[in-house]
Amino acid sequence: MTPDPETELAAILDQVQDMPSLSPVLARLTALIASPDTTANDITLAISRDPGLVTRVLKLVNSAYYGFTRRISTITSAVVILGFKQIRNMALSSFVFDNFVNIASPRFDINGLWRHSLGVATFAAAVARLVAPRNIEDIFICGLLHDLGKFVLFRSDPEKAVRIFELAERDNLPFLAAENRLSAYDHARLGAAATERWKLPSSVVEVIRFHHAPLKAPEASSLPTAVINFADIMARSLLMGEGGGKRVEILSPEIWGRIGLSWPSVEKISRQAAKDYVDAAAFYA
Ligand SMILES: [Fe+2]
Ligand SMILES: [Fe+2]
Repeated sequence: MTPDPETELAAILDQVQDMPSLSPVLARLTALIASPDTTANDITLAISRDPGLVTRVLKLVNSAYYGFTRRISTITSAVVILGFKQIRNMALSSFVFDNFVNIASPRFDINGLWRHSLGVATFAAAVARLVAPRNIEDIFICGLLHDLGKFVLFRSDPEKAVRIFELAERDNLPFLAAENRLSAYDHARLGAAATERWKLPSSVVEVIRFHHAPLKAPEASSLPTAVINFADIMARSLLMGEGGGKRVEILSPEIWGRIGLSWPSVEKISRQAAKDYVDAAAFYA
């Protein structure tokens, strides 16, 4: 049965409605990053308004994930060394973790879904180092947020979320297929609506929207969407976290061609991603 588009849209908006708004500091950071006139000082000032975020950024920048030998002790140096987008990524990761992952459900391990997101983000970033070196940070955040819709659903309708996860597991279905049986909208659309509401760049919103239909992605997002689709499949194959169900989808030859990697490089990428994944997951443990 095809749901009525109006009902469907209303349902999506309902779900997104009770989603937390970005913190004022994070909203300011995303706006600053979109402007070409922003300086390192502007970013430092914006972060300094939130002492919790300052502590988080300094802790993360000094963690094994980044592997710096010298201790970085000020936000000013963290901003200069990492760049604006990495700082935004850290702030957004912490925000999503605090607002969506710390939800207790005895029937579902939401931390597994977070680890899946970290796995996709680290694998996608390792691919991006080879195929889109100027776009690594944006691709990382697309990986981290690609399944945001699942977190949104868990927050607003945990009963339904658990039923979808259980159906995918029981009938060995791809998550999206289980979702289509039980819901009028899927997590890709929900995630896109949520990030749109947060005013994240359209390049991020579109990757989330099309991560399960990468051939339909608009031209400008076609490579990052292909990378996330591939990373999603690989993170499942490499058993990074729990994306929902055990079924691993098959990569389309067109998407593989679009990414333009060779198989030997995938082995190298997988080793790098596995290391980054362990370091990133340890930070949130
Ligand atoms: Fe997904
Ligand atoms: Fe996923």
